[in-house]
Amino acid sequence: KMKLREAIFSANNLASKFYNYLLLNNDIASKAKEYLNDRGFNEEDIKKFNLGYAPDSWRGLYNFLSDKGFNQEVLIKSGLVVAGKNNSYYDRFRDRVIFPIYNVRSEVIGFGGRVIDPEDFPKYLNSPESPVFSKKKLLYGLNISKEGIQDKNEAVIVEGYTDVLTAHKFGLTNFVASLGTALTREQANLLKRYCDKVYIAYDADTAGDKATLRGLEILRQAGLDVAIIELPQDLDPDDYIKNKGSDAFIELESKAPDLIEYRIDLIMEKYQDQSANSRLKAAQAGVDFLATIKDELTQDAYAKVLAEKTEIGYEEIKNKMQKVKKEKK
Ligand code: GTP
Ligand code: MN
Ligand code: MN
Ligand code: MN
Ligand code: MN
Repeated sequence: KMKLREAIFSANNLASKFYNYLLLNNDIASKAKEYLNDRGFNEEDIKKFNLGYAPDSWRGLYNFLSDKGFNQEVLIKSGLVVAGKNNSYYDRFRDRVIFPIYNVRSEVIGFGGRVIDPEDFPKYLNSPESPVFSKKKLLYGLNISKEGIQDKNEAVIVEGYTDVLTAHKFGLTNFVASLGTALTREQANLLKRYCDKVYIAYDADTAGDKATLRGLEILRQAGLDVAIIELPQDLDPDDYIKNKGSDAFIELESKAPDLIEYRIDLIMEKYQDQSANSRLKAAQAGVDFLATIKDELTQDAYAKVLAEKTEIGYEEIKNKMQKVKKEKK
């Protein structure tokens, strides 16, 4: 069993070097290199993250690794090679930009591959689950961000590879990606080993907003303090940091609402028009939410926040709160 894991690590490591060598040195990767350059990633970034290019060929990697002595079982279990019909084998990743995925010990556990041509599908392809790759347990970038996270005692959790790359490029060294929007308990517990506070900075779109609500609950249950970074609509951290710079992102961090204030903000968004009637409705919805908070001091602190945001007096908020509490009894 142990032997298989070691062989897979070894195949993954060599594969990452094969892809990276092609991207840096071979003309067949010129399109991929141009694509990355257009997105602002240069040779230094490619080297730092060991990015690569998987050639547009059925058995380029298969032949390379077979020549190095890896048997078919290892190649298939690593996920690098797919078994087709009639004992045929072919490379999983073809004509894609490759992002090696590392565990915290900086071993290559799997890969993500991005299309270059926007017509191609799916946009990202991941390694399948393997003896060394469990998607729900990994955080992309943790190996490289671990120190930054420990130094600050804070992490920023984002959706994607490129969000982590751009953050590092701009000197923000405490970013990790959940690789999609489905944050898991395992990922939250892993993060808790390195820090006490997490900013969620998911994409400002419908999927990201939904995932934020789910994610903050999971992070809170793991014992982490949570704050939510709200980006301008339809941007992700990669876009935002590239356009506005790291100071602007740090500014967003300093304004980031905690989870209770975030929920109040969502309620306020629902009653946006600011008419007196809307503000009253928002206040009532806010009170209904605050009434679910058990700790009285916390409840009172946020009653003040709600009073400010709705511009309805603190006393009146308190009165409404008493009513709700009586009704509950
Ligand atoms: P870019 O378009 O390259 O900037 O990537 P992104 O990170 O902004 O992508 P997006 O916000 O659409 O998705 C966030 C993350 O979810 C990606 O980094 C991937 O890890 C993952 N993801 C996105 N699309 C797919 C897909 O089609 N298949 C799989 N398996 N994962 C995906
Ligand atoms: Mn997204
Ligand atoms: Mn939003
Ligand atoms: Mn993006
Ligand atoms: Mn995105």
